[in-house]
Amino acid sequence: MNCLRLPAAALLACLPLAAAALSPLANLGQKIFNDPMLSASGRESCATCHAPGNAFLAPNTRPVQIGGANMNLSGFRNVPAVTYALFNPRQSPAGVPIRGGLQLDGRAMDLVAQAMMPFTSTVEMGNVTTTEVRQRLILRPYLAAFQAIFGATLLRDPDATVRAMGQAIAAYETEGPEFKRFNSKYDATLIGRAKLTPQEQNGQALFNSTTKGNCVMCHNGTGTTTAQMFTNYSYRAVGVPRNWKIPYNQDGVTQPSYVPANGANLGAPNHHYYDLGACGPFRTDLAGQTADCGMFKVPGLRNVALKEAYEHNGVFTSLAQVVDFYNTRDLQPERWYKKADGITPDIPYNDVPIIYQSNIERHPPFQPLPGNKPHLSASEIQDIVVFLCTLTDGYDPANPAAYPYPAQCKAALRP
Ligand code: HEC
Ligand code: HEC
Repeated sequence: MNCLRLPAAALLACLPLAAAALSPLANLGQKIFNDPMLSASGRESCATCHAPGNAFLAPNTRPVQIGGANMNLSGFRNVPAVTYALFNPRQSPAGVPIRGGLQLDGRAMDLVAQAMMPFTSTVEMGNVTTTEVRQRLILRPYLAAFQAIFGATLLRDPDATVRAMGQAIAAYETEGPEFKRFNSKYDATLIGRAKLTPQEQNGQALFNSTTKGNCVMCHNGTGTTTAQMFTNYSYRAVGVPRNWKIPYNQDGVTQPSYVPANGANLGAPNHHYYDLGACGPFRTDLAGQTADCGMFKVPGLRNVALKEAYEHNGVFTSLAQVVDFYNTRDLQPERWYKKADGITPDIPYNDVPIIYQSNIERHPPFQPLPGNKPHLSASEIQDIVVFLCTLTDGYDPANPAAYPYPAQCKAALRP
């Protein structure tokens, strides 16, 4: 069957079936993706943090994962999905509003550039240099496959070697059917093979309503392809609470040298280190663009119910909590913003320096006007959650009872 002849909605469901066997390059990429022996510890591969058994999301409830040469260093950020990452547009050129790019701050131009980074990240695979990565690659059983594709002389250049490894991984992330399954319940409805329940429908309507959830303002389709990723790939400041569970967020302790001390000149609330997303510290090209400070990539929402930590710092543990936060962030800030003891109320938006707080998003679902009611009721929050649950892959219209339905989704079902 030629998928491309089908109408847009049916195309989505057809694609995975049509996926051909992996090319030799992608096949090599799959091996690299799953190989812990390419890390300094010998214990961490891409798959350790992007678990194939969990839609290439984190395998546990940690807000951030651990890594490094001794597997004892905390990460800085929550693990995003590699599934559907191939639909990320390339980073937008300088001088236009930021859009696209990989990583939560968009600092990687494309999948290839992204895949090169973890090998030499201090807190991830922990190699110090590309030479060290090359030394590990040379000992791997798929070296011959690598040389057959790239030639033996490429190995003389360690940077080019790691770039080639990145190309192989990107090919796997693009070709592998597991990265574009499009078989959620939501997808089944697009081809008339499933119907949303009244609660799911209500959640979808609230998600789309500009005066209620208004989620579509940012988590909409791309408008350019038939594939709906539930993100417009823009960058926004949502102002999530500082996550004190990330050790680098603690004040008054000596931090390791790899932690950027970028807080010194930023004023209140006077933390030594802030993750400001698009304007730094890990992304450097937009460092002077203070209007981008505090902004992170709008994440796609496919398989989002399989996550156990949410937002760039993993500060939330459930979808209900995320939507509750959106709904009451401004009206009840004392519920969300706490000092390091987890009890004492902190200033609102305590993870964004006050000088940048004007960047924080105020459109619905946020309700910045004191005295007004929140946009969503408690049951409407639940409805949005059950709609998000329909974006979980693995729905078989012939056997709906076998749908892998996460516990938090069951908990949000109305009786
Ligand atoms: C220690 C855990 C860990 C390991 C190991 C790891 N990642 Fe990640 N991955 C993350 C985190 C955290 C981010 C977000 C990083 C950021 O924004 O700076 C991320 C981001 C990504 C993204 C970007 C997704 C997006 O939407 O922008 C892709 C793709 C990805 N990783 C693939 C890989 C590949 C390929 C490897 C192996 C070469 C790998 N990861 C190794 C934790 C990990
Ligand atoms: C103004 C743009 C905007 C609007 C409107 C918006 N979001 Fe988001 N959303 C974001 C951004 C940006 C992030 C990431 C923020 C961060 O990590 O600091 C995010 C994160 C999330 C996450 C966490 C995903 C993850 O992988 O950790 C969920 C879930 C989510 N949004 C759902 C919703 C829902 C449901 C609505 C409507 C009630 C909504 N969003 C409205 C921009 C928006």
